[in-house]
Amino acid sequence: MRAKREFTVRLRLHVNIYDTAKSQFTVPSSVVELQSGSQAIQKNNSDLIFNYSPSPFAFWITRSSEPDAQPLFDTRASSLPPTPIPPVISTDNTTALDAFPLIFEDQYLQLTSALPLGANIYGLGEVVASSGFRRDVGTNGGNGTIQTMWARDIADPIDQNIYGSHSIYMEHRYNETSRRSQTHGVFLFSSAGSDILLLTPPSSNVSLIEYRLIGGTLDFYFFSGPSPQKVIEQYGELVGLPTWQPAWAFGFHLCRWGYTTVNETKEQVTKMREANIPLEVMWNDIDLYHAVRDFTSDPVSFPADEMRSFIRELASNNQHYIPIVDAAVAKQINSTDIYDPYTRGTELDVFVKNPNSTEYVGQVWPGYTVFPDWFSENAQKYWTEALTNWSNSGIEFSGIWLDMNEASSFCDGSCGTGANLSNTTAPFILPGDPGGEVTNYPEGYNSTISGPSGNITVNGTLTYGAGESTDSTLSKRGLGAGGQKDVDLNTPPYAIHNGNGRLSLHALATNATHAGGYVELDTHNLWGMMEEKATHLALQSLHPGKRPFLISRSTFPSSGKWTGHWLGDNFSKWQYMYFNIQGVLQFQLFQIPMVGADTCGFNDNTDEELCGRWMQLSAFMPFYRNHNERGALSQEPYRWDSVANASRTAMNVRYSMLPYWYTLFANASQFGAPPVRALFYEFPDEPELFGIDQQYLIGRDILITPVLTPNVSTVDGIFPGRGRVIWRDWYTHNVVNSSTDGSPTTLSAPLGHINVHIRDGSAILLHGQPAYTVAETRQGPYSLLVSQAADGFAFGTAYIDDGESIPPTPSRTIEFHAVKGSLKISGSGSFALQETLETVTVLGVGNTEKRPTTVSVQEKEVSGWEYVPAQQKLVLSGLGLSLNHNLTITWS
Ligand code: NOJ
Repeated sequence: MRAKREFTVRLRLHVNIYDTAKSQFTVPSSVVELQSGSQAIQKNNSDLIFNYSPSPFAFWITRSSEPDAQPLFDTRASSLPPTPIPPVISTDNTTALDAFPLIFEDQYLQLTSALPLGANIYGLGEVVASSGFRRDVGTNGGNGTIQTMWARDIADPIDQNIYGSHSIYMEHRYNETSRRSQTHGVFLFSSAGSDILLLTPPSSNVSLIEYRLIGGTLDFYFFSGPSPQKVIEQYGELVGLPTWQPAWAFGFHLCRWGYTTVNETKEQVTKMREANIPLEVMWNDIDLYHAVRDFTSDPVSFPADEMRSFIRELASNNQHYIPIVDAAVAKQINSTDIYDPYTRGTELDVFVKNPNSTEYVGQVWPGYTVFPDWFSENAQKYWTEALTNWSNSGIEFSGIWLDMNEASSFCDGSCGTGANLSNTTAPFILPGDPGGEVTNYPEGYNSTISGPSGNITVNGTLTYGAGESTDSTLSKRGLGAGGQKDVDLNTPPYAIHNGNGRLSLHALATNATHAGGYVELDTHNLWGMMEEKATHLALQSLHPGKRPFLISRSTFPSSGKWTGHWLGDNFSKWQYMYFNIQGVLQFQLFQIPMVGADTCGFNDNTDEELCGRWMQLSAFMPFYRNHNERGALSQEPYRWDSVANASRTAMNVRYSMLPYWYTLFANASQFGAPPVRALFYEFPDEPELFGIDQQYLIGRDILITPVLTPNVSTVDGIFPGRGRVIWRDWYTHNVVNSSTDGSPTTLSAPLGHINVHIRDGSAILLHGQPAYTVAETRQGPYSLLVSQAADGFAFGTAYIDDGESIPPTPSRTIEFHAVKGSLKISGSGSFALQETLETVTVLGVGNTEKRPTTVSVQEKEVSGWEYVPAQQKLVLSGLGLSLNHNLTITWS
């Protein structure tokens, strides 16, 4: 039985409802290449069953392993709540089915499924969700969720669409009777603008998910799990696994908008060194540019030669440099103002066009701009050339930061053409005109988004189907009739809840045209991901064989193959430090695991306490960067003593844990395993964890319990496992006295201290001497931390390679395996480690056996050890053992 289950868990089910004429837009396979499963999909072995009724058409998905359970997904009228419900799209009928008709029109597609009442739903994004990582389905006093998919340049508002579009969710179901859970995933593969609603009608015994798309097809993938981690892996297997990260990516990154000269930038590097706070990567924002133009450096403030020698000096100290690349390319306005990236782009015909084939002009920081069209034949050539020329000019970057790639443009649609464009400045139109006033900022949880077709209050009155856009002309248009396309590119009949209001506002106009006949309306959500792919490939050609490092703002399914992500323009507020955790958890599910927030906050002024706590939290996030807005108070970690201390302490732990992070990311790139995990991923049968997003796990074994509020010196945290798991403090190795009922434990958390705990049954390879840079740290010795379970068992693995070559490359995977009184280390692979294992610490010795009197390595008794009874700790030091051989350590 077990074998069968193991096999079935990898299966997925694909349900595609499409037009037989195939005239609807679908994402071309050259843009997102979905992967077929690694194991043959055999219908008979699948745990997922597709059931349907032909007329009226409805389908529902069940598990063969749980035939009596509520279906995982169910579009049948009988499963949906009865009327009265204001239908989304007017119809003449008012039967229950018509409240949730399956609609398939050119510009409006709708499908509704029943969910268990109050279902545990995670994912759908990108979003800063007031509900936390677990989404609000409209029970327990919640108002439900409208997740809009329309890539949008906006400073992290709450509960609105932002930069990326990810229509994947995971549902975690707990059976109260068996006290067991199962998880499944549902992915809608579509780039169409859409709203995905989660809601619970009044007095209903089900909650609902409703998809409303303004184009494309209904292309669903279902993942059988049955654990959260399996769902994430299965999704990764479909959309592609995350790119391999270079080892240096895990160091500390420093950035701000407002380092206005090369000297000011250099000064940061010096100050960080003086304060002895590790700095791995120095960044520049658009200050670097000449006339705010991509691929330039300002001849006065950032002279190319000085930049070259600065970056080379960084490199000689094992440090790196990353500049920004904006999505929009400045438009050269007259013939005396030569700007090669523009002229070359026009020559190669790579820019987005107006419907009449003229150049599409938008506006961003440099004034009027054009936009690379990633569908155009020469786009890759153009981009590789531009990045290569820039690097050759002196900006010898190690990685690239992609910004504004929703793509953002400040005009309301096209800025015009020809004679209109007489100078370099254009009217600067911000969201809000006329219907998109964004007021939903940190303090205001009850803000109103005024949409273009009526007021919709996201938090407050949205309960069920009310106030939605309806355009009674929809049916009169006869969309799709006779295969005729009568598509409104500018104002699609159904207005999705784009926070900006109209879709073209602060973005490319929806009728902008791409090569191949594609229009912006269909492809808008793909722009960022296509740029990421092109940039990744450009970096590969510039640095052959080396892993490209990218951080990008707008993402789409499969972006993780090319890039990492930062959570955009957050605020220097405690609340946003909390949101940092849900953001990172979301992107693990989206298979873009290299992610982090602007540490200390981007918008507004930070303060010493917030910055200190946040520098510590982010030290336990994959991507660790402090970034700040222009004009805000400086927030480099050396600015305050307490922040400097807190940073050094946390970075010391981070750099010692680098082999663990590196292994987790190797597992992500090979199997799709999420490096950062919500607590319930590892403890799926403990309902008190389903809503926890103030704490999280790094991998299986490290639990982080940060302080997320000001003015406190303790923090409450749950220790999963309900007393069956031994959690040990990272710093003291003391065992936590945790509860057996899942209730929280209060921990000491003075300023400068972040709680880190180690799970039992673990063996973690560490760097024994964290140093100033990742390279220097990697040149030091290793140490091993073993935290035994009550029965003496512990297990762990470490993946090691040269830290920069693109696999396949020589690597070594080492396994650590402890049982009562012995630890075995065995490895495989062709990579030879130079650094030796110096220290082994085993926690829990004396739990099951008496205090040790003899310790042997490779059957030879050794004397270099000590035993600390208070922590039942055995420490072997001065070992000098090669990790290229199998080893056995015993104690008795
Ligand atoms: C918007 C980005 O999100 C932010 O990080 C950056 O500093 C500014 N653009 C300026 O480039």
